[in-house]
Amino acid sequence: MTEASMILVETIGRVGVVRLNRPKALNALCAQLMQELGAALLAFDKDPAVAAIIVTGSEKAFAAGADIKEMKDKTFPDVVFNDFIGAHWETVLEVKKPVIAAVAGFALGGGCELAMMCDMILAADNAKFGQPEINLGIIPGAGGSQRLTRAIGKSKAMEMILTARMMDAAEAERANLVARVVPLADLMAEALKIGEKIASLSGPSVAIAKDAVNAAFETTLTEGVKTERRMFLGLFATADQKEGMNAFAEKRRPNFTHR
Ligand code: CAA
Repeated sequence: MTEASMILVETIGRVGVVRLNRPKALNALCAQLMQELGAALLAFDKDPAVAAIIVTGSEKAFAAGADIKEMKDKTFPDVVFNDFIGAHWETVLEVKKPVIAAVAGFALGGGCELAMMCDMILAADNAKFGQPEINLGIIPGAGGSQRLTRAIGKSKAMEMILTARMMDAAEAERANLVARVVPLADLMAEALKIGEKIASLSGPSVAIAKDAVNAAFETTLTEGVKTERRMFLGLFATADQKEGMNAFAEKRRPNFTHR
């Protein structure tokens, strides 16, 4: 029997919002929750009425990590042959539209990793980030050792991963883990403002800009710049480029048709 849904989904204007909703377990990321999150993200990605997506949790927890109780008795063959973590954990990486993680409270272990898989993190002032897996006799398993290190550098990542120390929101902003910190009460309004701004822009240029930034993590500088150049030139084939530039020249707001 499947438990009741562990996420809440709504569309506000042209922004799709997925709220992780497993409050009694601080949004621990069990298989059901990750499957539901993945399905909701892919549905928003296909929906032409949605231009940007927010993933958020509660005021107390974005997500306190993978579900320890669910995984504690798994054997090595269980985790290897059932594609544990691989299945459903990385769906967010398939999404072409921008995904904003609006993080309040704990973002630990898989919760921190999920936030880092999103395109940007907007943090409430009560946010706490950490990779405490070492306390459990394991290490991060959804990209934490790689994405945290790329985001904040080796020393800080080593300290956090080797000692399980958490970072508060102010430190996370100083370390460039998050785009910005806002008061807890303003978190959703600020995340929606980002989403609405993105929704007002040319869809093709937004999707390509996202790809261009992501290319920086996967390639050399020379190849990355070449990739960017091809993408930049390609956008001159779109109606939105003509509209954007004509609107500027004519001192009016652009009316993008997403073509
Ligand atoms: N898995 C399963 N249940 C969890 C959980 C998790 N990751 N985190 C919290 N919970 C549950 C608790 O067991 C508790 O449930 P009960 O009421 O049934 O006992 C409930 O959520 C509330 O938690 P606490 O009572 O512990 O709340 P707290 O405010 O005292 O502490 C906390 C909060 C510091 C986040 C603490 O809950 C904690 O340390 N959680 C575990 C964090 C962690 O180790 N995360 C990494 C998981 S491994 C991982 O993510 C692997 C990977 O890379 C993919």
